[in-house]
Amino acid sequence: MCGIVGYIGSQRAYDILIQGLKRLEYRGYDSAGVALVDDAGHLTVHKSMGKVANLEQVAAAGPLDGSLGIAHTRWATHGEPSDLNAHPHVSQSGMIALVHNGTIENYAVLKKVLIEHGYEFKSETDTEVLVQLIEYIKLTSSCSLLDAVREALLQVEGAYAIAVVEQNDPDNLIVARKSSPLVIGVGDGETFIASDATPIVGYTDKVIYLKDNEIALLRRNEPVQILSLTDNKPSTINIQKLRLSLAQLEKGGYDTFMLKEIFEQPSTLRDCLRGRIVDKANRVVLSGVELNKDKFLNAERITLVACGTSWHAALIGKRLIQDFCKMPVEVEYASEFRYGNPVLNEKDIVISISQSGETADTLAAIQLAREKGAFVYGICNVVGASIPRNTDSGTYIHVGPEIGVASTKAFTGQVTVLTLLALSVGHLRGAIDQKTLHEVASALEKMPATIEKALKVDAEVQKLSRIFTYAHNFLYLGRGYNYPTALEGALKLKEISYIHAEGYPAAEMKHGPIALIDHEMPSVIIAPSDSLYDKIISNVQQVKSRGGAVVAIISKGNKAMSEIADFCIEIPEVPECLTPLVASIPLQLLAYYIAVNKGKDVDQPRNLAKSVTVE
Ligand code: AGP
Repeated sequence: MCGIVGYIGSQRAYDILIQGLKRLEYRGYDSAGVALVDDAGHLTVHKSMGKVANLEQVAAAGPLDGSLGIAHTRWATHGEPSDLNAHPHVSQSGMIALVHNGTIENYAVLKKVLIEHGYEFKSETDTEVLVQLIEYIKLTSSCSLLDAVREALLQVEGAYAIAVVEQNDPDNLIVARKSSPLVIGVGDGETFIASDATPIVGYTDKVIYLKDNEIALLRRNEPVQILSLTDNKPSTINIQKLRLSLAQLEKGGYDTFMLKEIFEQPSTLRDCLRGRIVDKANRVVLSGVELNKDKFLNAERITLVACGTSWHAALIGKRLIQDFCKMPVEVEYASEFRYGNPVLNEKDIVISISQSGETADTLAAIQLAREKGAFVYGICNVVGASIPRNTDSGTYIHVGPEIGVASTKAFTGQVTVLTLLALSVGHLRGAIDQKTLHEVASALEKMPATIEKALKVDAEVQKLSRIFTYAHNFLYLGRGYNYPTALEGALKLKEISYIHAEGYPAAEMKHGPIALIDHEMPSVIIAPSDSLYDKIISNVQQVKSRGGAVVAIISKGNKAMSEIADFCIEIPEVPECLTPLVASIPLQLLAYYIAVNKGKDVDQPRNLAKSVTVE
């Protein structure tokens, strides 16, 4: 979703801003823009529809001077993608420029008042209202830009991360946030701002994560000042060390980030598991659980909240926790949970799962859960993101930055951490026997090597993908642990190839979707040799007898399915609860190659954003 970059220092701001926007491209956007203030106090704005490369072409005519600037990639919410609606937005007098990530909910009311005061609007955005409001306050109360921004934000309802510059003041950059992320990079005589840390990497490893309702004044050659938006008092400044490297943000020889991330999974799972399976696989240690033993011992129910792929991981987590902790578990879409009046108390544990840690609905869901007294635990990838900072405790999945919009390594990292959590809580509550714990923990410990074997199907899946590239619809079927795997496989295909795909519990197919099956509708069946294998065989026969082609994901050496299915892809044999981890590998590859065959942009699929920071 929208990305913000800003710079104040001694270098040419434009170069840093454009490079920063390119690093934020993965978040998803439809237009981009930059505002520069030169040393003489001139403000220049360049904007363009489409990619950052288009912006560079437009901006090439210049001027590009100035060591202060703000820039933006926009993901349309209010108003279609267009040059006019692209950020930065400039106030009526041309004095102030602003970029914004989020939504101003009461923009219509504010706009009406501003129109009554003679303001005219060029765009359809909520953001333009904010910049005009700031100017109106500044002019009518003759106050500083900082005070005008603060006053305007107190009138705004909604979510925002903003950066503001003023044409007559080349020494001043103002940023603020509420429910939208903003990171400040503290350099030597220069300061960077961005929606996430990726544009800052390589310049400084000192970062400040701005908190909700904070406003920061970044003055040239002066230390960062942060104030509370509500009472204007100085906030404590907590400078943290950024642990991200440039290499992690590059494709490392692969054609796309998605392919790199698929192939990285053996090593990302190694990082995810490091130090967590101990005593010869007889014990699992998650510090978030260890430090909160009482909460996990006394809990009466666990509710998992998440969106998208993370929600699919949550569905697998539900089975793991039920099987190993023998306690009631619910799974909710965060967007439904937050408006569903959930009944919670201090005996509830709510576990949020999020790669980015910035998903607006998940963040709101955990805030609600905390208000209702539940203990909130976060499973997150991005270190320092809003969700881990708003939970009581949690576990990072440590799979490194995921740049491809379609989640792959984060999904396997989430399922891995959920398995560790279920084993450790199950052990704590005496709900799992030592033999089972050891068996699952040993297989999990070997998972990086197992995934390496699973990835060997790459060439075979690539070949298979050519047969199905032009199918219009797909059905993904799975049962038990692999019903969520089917959902995830279908989501991957939809996201990057734009082919309609439905994931379904295999046995439910006969209650409706079977009507869709004909020779043009392939089905992908996830059928490892597990407790439901015999059942799924008959589901496959139902598909076959209606003329549908079947691609089956089977455990190595399984003969029965290979006699019925049209195509079989073998995966290494693992305990049933770990089959989603291995089965998702060929599904990721199948979606990837079909999308590539169709010439799609797999890393930045249309309309999608990597972190969904608006409702
Ligand atoms: C996955 O491929 C998606 N792009 C999307 O569904 C994603 O999982 C969802 O938006 C949740 O994101 P989060 O994990 O960062 O909260």
